[in-house]
Amino acid sequence: MKKSTTIRLALLLAGALLAGHSLPAQPKLNPGNIDKVMKAMTLEEKVRLVVGVNHSYGSTTTVPGIAGRTAPIERLGIPATVMADGPMGLRIEPKREGDPNSYYCTAFPIGTAVAATWDTELIYLMGQVLGREVKEHGVDVLLGPGMNLQRNPLNGRNFEYYSEDPVITGKIASAYVRGVQSQGVGTSIKHYAANNQETQRIINDTRVSARALREIYLKGFEICVKESQPWTVMSSYNRLNGPWTQEDKGLLTSILRDEWGFRNVVVTDWTGLRHPVVQLESGNDIFQPGTSGEYEALLEAAKSGALDIKALDKAVKRVLELVVKTPTFKGNEYSEKVSPEAAPMVRGVGADGCVLLKNDGVLPLAKQEVALFGVGSYDTQGAGWGAGNVFSEHMVTIKEGLEAAGFGVESRLEDLYSDYVRFGRKNMDYNQWIRVHVGKALVPETPLSVKFITSLAQSSDIALITICRNSGECKDRLLDYDFNLTADEKDMIANVSDAFHGKGKKVVVVLNVCNPVEVASWKDKVDAILCAWLPGMEAGHSIADVLTGTVNPSGRLPMTFPNDYFDLPSAKDFPYDYHGKLSNNGSLKPDFTREQIRNEDYTVYSEGIYVGYRYFTTASRDVCFPFGYGLSYTTFGYSDAKVSPVRRGGKEGNAFRVSVTVTNTGKVAGKEVVGLYVSAPSGVIAKPSVELKAFAKTRLLQPGESDVVNLDFTAYSLASFNEKASAWQTDKGTYKLHVGADCTNPEAELELNLRKAYSWKTTRSCLPEQPVDELKL
Ligand code: BGC
Repeated sequence: MKKSTTIRLALLLAGALLAGHSLPAQPKLNPGNIDKVMKAMTLEEKVRLVVGVNHSYGSTTTVPGIAGRTAPIERLGIPATVMADGPMGLRIEPKREGDPNSYYCTAFPIGTAVAATWDTELIYLMGQVLGREVKEHGVDVLLGPGMNLQRNPLNGRNFEYYSEDPVITGKIASAYVRGVQSQGVGTSIKHYAANNQETQRIINDTRVSARALREIYLKGFEICVKESQPWTVMSSYNRLNGPWTQEDKGLLTSILRDEWGFRNVVVTDWTGLRHPVVQLESGNDIFQPGTSGEYEALLEAAKSGALDIKALDKAVKRVLELVVKTPTFKGNEYSEKVSPEAAPMVRGVGADGCVLLKNDGVLPLAKQEVALFGVGSYDTQGAGWGAGNVFSEHMVTIKEGLEAAGFGVESRLEDLYSDYVRFGRKNMDYNQWIRVHVGKALVPETPLSVKFITSLAQSSDIALITICRNSGECKDRLLDYDFNLTADEKDMIANVSDAFHGKGKKVVVVLNVCNPVEVASWKDKVDAILCAWLPGMEAGHSIADVLTGTVNPSGRLPMTFPNDYFDLPSAKDFPYDYHGKLSNNGSLKPDFTREQIRNEDYTVYSEGIYVGYRYFTTASRDVCFPFGYGLSYTTFGYSDAKVSPVRRGGKEGNAFRVSVTVTNTGKVAGKEVVGLYVSAPSGVIAKPSVELKAFAKTRLLQPGESDVVNLDFTAYSLASFNEKASAWQTDKGTYKLHVGADCTNPEAELELNLRKAYSWKTTRSCLPEQPVDELKL
């Protein structure tokens, strides 16, 4: 030991003795001494660690614009853990000109577009790029992916979510989580659970049967937790069959931890409105954004014995286990740079998520002079708004994408729309919240005279119309002027089609939408429809790649497009006709003294398990485009389909593999999605006609090339939830296996005979107070 150090230690010791204290033990946190650090923590420090440092949007820290932090405790070497929004990229404060302390980030394609790729390997790679960016900007935990089910197409946050199906949701989410976490940063799968509408999102009570909850709304979370152990799970705002999800021990502990084996941290969605003691004892570990009220209530309860100290210690331990994994703890040096690999990744995922809905042969397009109709051609939407919006440096429009691909763009139309969009942006009366959080809203379509359209049909080779929709946090979409097209949009489609067809020219529609819109009434008028969703900041390039055939479309619908909104089984049990005001984002407490309003204070999931294609296939109802649907510029042949047992399964019972050879039988290279849909034998409880159990995607196959695709599943994955027994049960008997992407149109059929039935007991948690009156089919 150096002489100077010896003297300093002696002085410290003397000082401590003189002050009448023995030296406090002050271990510095490291992964091996968490218990020791906990012993050295005061009660105040423990409570401080679990209550976030009330950090609202816009305040300055090392990383401006993050959503929240945990409290640092310097004397014990515990740094703050930095959490920022996702899921479509890293949401931090937008770049301000000349301010070196603000940064652009990458706007990745929305969740729905990501799911439409049906490509878990690609999404894993995308997650890696995203994870690196998170780390490079000094953030520890990305608040995503969003995993709520797309129960109804009008949910304002559906764009952040993946699908109407829990298996796609779970598998795509786990690919994303594994990708992001492979870079040494965390994720937060959200919003757990059954948080499927934005209207009155802070108070709404989801009333759902135990079976639908388990099979539909929890299944994706279950798959993701088991396959990827996210660093955190975010407990949601809503109520679930009465209790707040954040105060529900059955949900947060019995199901999440005891049944599924989740080992990490539960962080509350940004509430501050629930009972902190009940929240902590139910299984929340971090309170965000964290209020002084929560801190005081927990401390007082801890001192008075009203709070179970063991629950506090469990939370503290989990938080410390999180802290030691973070880049901030490890002393990560960051560069605040968007990596050069990000834009090509966004462009590729955006293109692979495009779903070709109709093509009479006009696509792919050769270079030509195109008349671009629709505001979205010039003001293309790449992302939704709210927590899921990312401030990227650019957003490539469809016009720019087509020009870059060598197309000529009709200039009179371009001038008209450019002026109109500029004028519209300036004059729209934006809601304050939207202005702050989004920066822009959609400019509505402008009517064009038939005479003008006719003259454009004369001078241009082809028409391309963009229909644009956006949505976001705190507000659901409405039926009219949103799901249904506006009169101006319908007129545009009709007039452009008449004029161009009159000249023997074609009309292509691009859907630049957050989720389904009504298509059935106009699809026959046009020659091709490409659903591109909101494909991120390279939108125009991704779309041009598919339109030109540089990328052969291989996306498939992760939800059903109904013919009519009211065909949906959840149509009336959703606030489709809500007055449209933004619901309160924070201060609202339910008023139980007044009559509770259906679809606002509470929503009954009366369709039960019959969500999306589970309903349409079982009820034999026609749809506009089925789940799993999507066209390609090539064709594929299926052969050698077989099912065989594999040596695996363990707790999940026997394991099986369907393998099938897929051959590109067409003239251009392409990728094919292969789904495995199962029809179960009739048993004690009714089953949907088909259910997706596994899926995979081929690599890019050249004409004539083949790939063997494997689809793995277990006896457990075939199980239905029997409420009476509170158990997952797989009946014995003959299972029909349908192989192919489209749930209504199998390419190969197999049978699997299960000689033995299986049962897995669960806890009786999250049950409705009264049975939910459900649809029976
Ligand atoms: C949203 C979350 C988000 C959080 C932090 C909440 O209002 O529901 O999705 O992660 O805010 O910004």
